[in-house]
Formats: sequence, C-alpha cells, structure tokens
Amino acid sequence: MEVQNDIKHIAFIMDGNGRWAKKRMMPREYGHNFGAKKFREVASYCYDIGVPYVTFYAFSTENWKRPVSEVNAIMKLFMEYLDEAQKSRDKDVGIAFLGEKMRFSEEMRSKMKFLENATSACHKKLCIAINYGGRAEIVDAVNKLFSEGKTEITEEDITNNIYSGICPPPDMIIRTGGEMRLSNFLMWQSAYSELFFTDTLWPDLRKSEIDDIIEQFGKRKRRFGGV
Ligand code: FPP
Repeated sequence: MEVQNDIKHIAFIMDGNGRWAKKRMMPREYGHNFGAKKFREVASYCYDIGVPYVTFYAFSTENWKRPVSEVNAIMKLFMEYLDEAQKSRDKDVGIAFLGEKMRFSEEMRSKMKFLENATSACHKKLCIAINYGGRAEIVDAVNKLFSEGKTEITEEDITNNIYSGICPPPDMIIRTGGEMRLSNFLMWQSAYSELFFTDTLWPDLRKSEIDDIIEQFGKRKRRFGGV
C-alpha cells in the first residue's frame, strides 16, 4: 500500500505479549519472543510504505518491577537484536535509543552507543524507547538546560533537548492490547498526535490492520489548534 498522507512518524506501544502467551498456555517470555519478531516485521513494513521515522515503546521505567526472569528474557531479546543490527546493518536506518541508559549493563550500553554512532547519518530512523519515561524525559531536558545556565526555557529548548530531538513528533501513535492510555509514552511529543487503540494483541498485529489504521488517519482532520 502507498502512504497517501505524508506520514513521517508512527509510534507504537507494543502491548499484549503476556496475554498472547497466556492464551496459548505458555509463559510470558514466549509472548515477548513473538513480540520481538513482530517489532522487526512492523518496522520494516513502515519503511516499505514510505514512513521514515518509527518509534517503539519496548521497556518503560516501570517494567523493572516485573519478575526478574521476565526482565532477563526481555534484556536477552534486546541483546540479540543489538548483535543482529550490528551485523546486518541496514545502511539506511539510523537507530536511536530513547531512555535512561545507565540502568543497563555496560556491555549493552556500549552496543547501543556503537549502533547509534554508526548509523547516525542515516535518513530513516528507528527509535527504541527502553527504560523510558515521558515525564523523566522532560525533567532531564529541563535540568540539562539549567546546568547549561539557562534561566528561561522555551518550548523549542525542550523540543531540542528531549531524547528524541532527532525525530519530528509522531503523526500517529498506535497502541495494541486494548488499553486506552499513553502510559507515560512521548508525553511532550504526543501533543498533536492522532491516537489509535486496537484490541489486537501485539504479536497478532497484521500489516492489513496497519493499512486500515492509516486509512482512518487519512480521514481525520488535523487542525493543530486552528480551525
Ligand atoms: C508489553 O506487553 C510488552 C513489553 C513490556 C515488552 C515489549 C518487548 C518486546 C516486544 C521485545 C522487544 C524487543 C526488541 C528487540 C525491541 P505486556 O507484557 O505488558 O503484555 P500484557 O499486557 O498482555 O501482559
């Protein structure tokens, strides 16, 4: 399908892996495995249809509260992805990690940094939010500006200092898994994003449903506060 709406950025909240696994009487980790496969499929589909910026909410600052075995399984999936992305780098896709990186192992941090640096000149962008919190992102930006001696802060200052400064704000945010909230995702950037919620569990999301959502997006009138 051709994107008719000049969509530059789609962000996804990947929810429902655990329930997907439970329905199959499998451990939650099984759902995350399929979720990670779906993440690859959806990212590459977005580029195929001409959307240059894609963001995924992969791990929130709250997700550390999950059982250690589940957290470890998700970290293993990140590491596998980092190794894979390093080996088979898509020359055209720049990867950026949004979030507070200090919480991760040194090995993981250095892999993230290497990938970010190696792909920084690419035109398309893949943003992965890990250990991410939208409020913390704004607070961090403000503190950084204070530390640079700013005493008066503009919207533009914050836009330029949040983790995702490299990306335009998302035109649309799609959340799978049936919940209708943003859960501290892209609090600053979502001010004018169109929001879409589907009951489909993340591992079940199909390309045809993304097409349908894009069609609905085309029918919405975005006024950005105007008339
Ligand atoms: C939400 O579903 C999902 C997560 C907190 C983890 C998402 C992680 C992945 C899909 C792996 C990503 C991997 C890479 C390489 C980026 P949930 O567990 O909250 O589902 P539930 O609401 O059904 O319990």
